[in-house]
Amino acid sequence: MYSELIETFLSYFGGQSDGIRIFRSPGRVNLIGEHTDYNGGFVFPVALTMDTTVLARPRDDRQINLIATDLKQMVSANLDELHKWKHLKWGNYQLGVADELQKSGYKLCGCDLLYDDKVPLGSGLSSSAAIEIATAIALVALGNAYHEIKREINMVEIAKIAQKAEHNYVGVKCGIMDQFASAMGKKNMAIFLDCRDLTWEMVPLDMKGYKLVIANTNVKRSLAGEKYNERRSECEHGLEQLRRIFPNASYLRDISVGDFIRYRDQISGETIRKRVAHVVYENERVIKAVEALKKNRLKEFGVLMNASHDSLRDLYEVTGKELDTLVEQSRKVEGVLGSRMTGAGFGGCTVSLVREDKVREFIERVGGAYYKEIGHDASFYITEAGNGGREIIF
Ligand code: GLA
Repeated sequence: MYSELIETFLSYFGGQSDGIRIFRSPGRVNLIGEHTDYNGGFVFPVALTMDTTVLARPRDDRQINLIATDLKQMVSANLDELHKWKHLKWGNYQLGVADELQKSGYKLCGCDLLYDDKVPLGSGLSSSAAIEIATAIALVALGNAYHEIKREINMVEIAKIAQKAEHNYVGVKCGIMDQFASAMGKKNMAIFLDCRDLTWEMVPLDMKGYKLVIANTNVKRSLAGEKYNERRSECEHGLEQLRRIFPNASYLRDISVGDFIRYRDQISGETIRKRVAHVVYENERVIKAVEALKKNRLKEFGVLMNASHDSLRDLYEVTGKELDTLVEQSRKVEGVLGSRMTGAGFGGCTVSLVREDKVREFIERVGGAYYKEIGHDASFYITEAGNGGREIIF
């Protein structure tokens, strides 16, 4: 299975295949709990089986060389001068991770890395987190072996370091959800994560007779980073105002629905009030959704998914025509219990809960209607929950 990739690796870097190690880390789809993570709230993501594979081999110098199966141009950097490469078109995530690992005290070694990315790029399925986590575990594993350090890799710490790389190298002030899901995912499980203290619970993703179907708008999320950071600061603004009444609140998560209803008039500005409303109610929806899934009340789960999308459309305003079209069309298909956007929004993907025997009809009808309305195709993937970042022993 890996022999082709090994051949490609050797064609770029030469030498022998001994010493090559293989690491994989997945993208994610979030079932519910959107734009809650950086507000210290709850999320409920699932790691995908689509992932990034990295082939890695140590070098005896401090050089780090990056190439990908779908790229022709190699990126080379020196581990001691990583700041010089902050503005790369491709390679930022990897070098950012290397830099943040070193800043956190990890001892790395030079290496050659080949990437094979199977998470559709820029689709809101966390292709970036997949690259970051795969890179991080590869660099740490190689560094540990090179420097003869015997220490288990702490995956939660790895997720936090990858998040820092995204903040400092990519400029998106993302929350922890994507990196956490990519690092910690488990086959057949959804992750109920409390982003305030990073405690989590694995919940079996046992949807009898139903499938999760992802639909990709195939719209690249331009400006997404900018808009994302803007939403984040709007939330901070809302929290600042609410702190006059709740001085101990550290995040919007600390504001309950009851508190919000009572004191909503204290928040000045309709926009900020809408953003806060989304976050407060969305947190409550995640808790209800987790309960519903545990009790196999899928209808209720679907209703909560729908409410989440509507709130992201009307209150948080991060959907747009393509996502709304997909959701609207999805809900028209019989056997669909719920449909919503997933990830940051502004393009990207939706996730729908579809009765198994209706999946084919779903793809045909939603795909057809989307093409008619938007003028280009959507793509569809049937989701299973896969494992998080790991080394492949081959
Ligand atoms: C992006 C970010 C996450 C999260 C989602 C929205 O995927 O990387 O941290 O904020 O958007 O829920």
